[in-house]
Amino acid sequence: MLILGFESSCDETGVALVDASGHATPRLLGHALHSQIAMHQAYGGVVPELASRDHIRRVLPLTDEVMAQAGLDLSAVDAVAYTRGPGLAGALLVGSGVACALAMALDKPVIGIHHLEGHLLSPFLSTDPPEFPFVALLVSGGHTQLMRVDGVGRYELLGETIDDAAGEAFDKSAKLLGLDYPGGPALSRLAQEGDPQAYRFPRPLMHSGDLDFSFAGLKTAVLTQVKKLAHARPEGPATLHLADPLTLGQKADVAASVQAAIVEVLVRKSLSAIDQTGLRRLVVAGGVGANARLREQLNAACARRGVRVHYPELHLCTDNGAMIALAAGLRVQAGLAAESLRQPAYRFDV
Ligand code: KG4
Ligand code: ZN
Repeated sequence: MLILGFESSCDETGVALVDASGHATPRLLGHALHSQIAMHQAYGGVVPELASRDHIRRVLPLTDEVMAQAGLDLSAVDAVAYTRGPGLAGALLVGSGVACALAMALDKPVIGIHHLEGHLLSPFLSTDPPEFPFVALLVSGGHTQLMRVDGVGRYELLGETIDDAAGEAFDKSAKLLGLDYPGGPALSRLAQEGDPQAYRFPRPLMHSGDLDFSFAGLKTAVLTQVKKLAHARPEGPATLHLADPLTLGQKADVAASVQAAIVEVLVRKSLSAIDQTGLRRLVVAGGVGANARLREQLNAACARRGVRVHYPELHLCTDNGAMIALAAGLRVQAGLAAESLRQPAYRFDV
């Protein structure tokens, strides 16, 4: 059972081929990715129209690359998977359009995959895959969720952000510091040079007793601190250049302190979810899962409690096609794709 998967929800075009034959964890046969980061950087964020157009340009060459890596022809493909959402509408339409057209041409079924399910299951492609059941911390640019995962398709939401996502908190703080998009990795690089205790930023909802998160207040606290340091008037407007008067050392201290606040909340809530469920395994997925401090602190806290932590391979933390092909493979193996496998390829949804 060979499944070709497409990811195009935001600013990465990803294509991958997995072998989901039998019941062994699907195996990656080919994988290609094109990041649009350089293209969007000049605008300080993702420009949806440019994103869609670039997906159109990249998707077929990447597909050829994947099939060449696998040494196979498209006729070997048994099913086609694509990200059906959430994401940018135009960007999603490129992936779904290509996937469905290809499936129709090959007369094969098409499987729509929820983007977050792709992230959630991505650690199954690592050399140290988790076993069910586990607690999952899903931390991406748009979502921050804690889930109980009992099997493929058996997900219970334990808590989530009531406003901004953790990735958004990284990105918005980075913007206030005048760092390049994407802010998360830039902020965490700068944070390595700073003191995480330089400023005491709020840890919202940390002691709320539930498993919800709130990160919107954090950017206001960062803004206030940056203004204070820049000697700007407190009521002055936030501009991209607000942080210009700050020294590199001041910026690094703000970066380290805000990262420490976000990470502390994520670690504390993940441990609460472990305690509340009684489960002994934690899976971390989504772009923020690439953060080195988050990994360090989770590893240390979980080791103290005898809890195993699993991550996707670093290059599969952010968006990619492998996680979409994998999720489709796992759903097929779990008997959850029967409906998709019967459905004609022209009835797709995004
Ligand atoms: O999962 P992802 O690639 O896309 C979404 O589905 O949203 O996550 C992107 C998010 C962005 O907010 C980005 O800044 C953040 O993940 N991110 C990081 C790091 N790498 C990516 N945040 C903190 N530290 C990182 N090393
Ligand atoms: Zn994502």
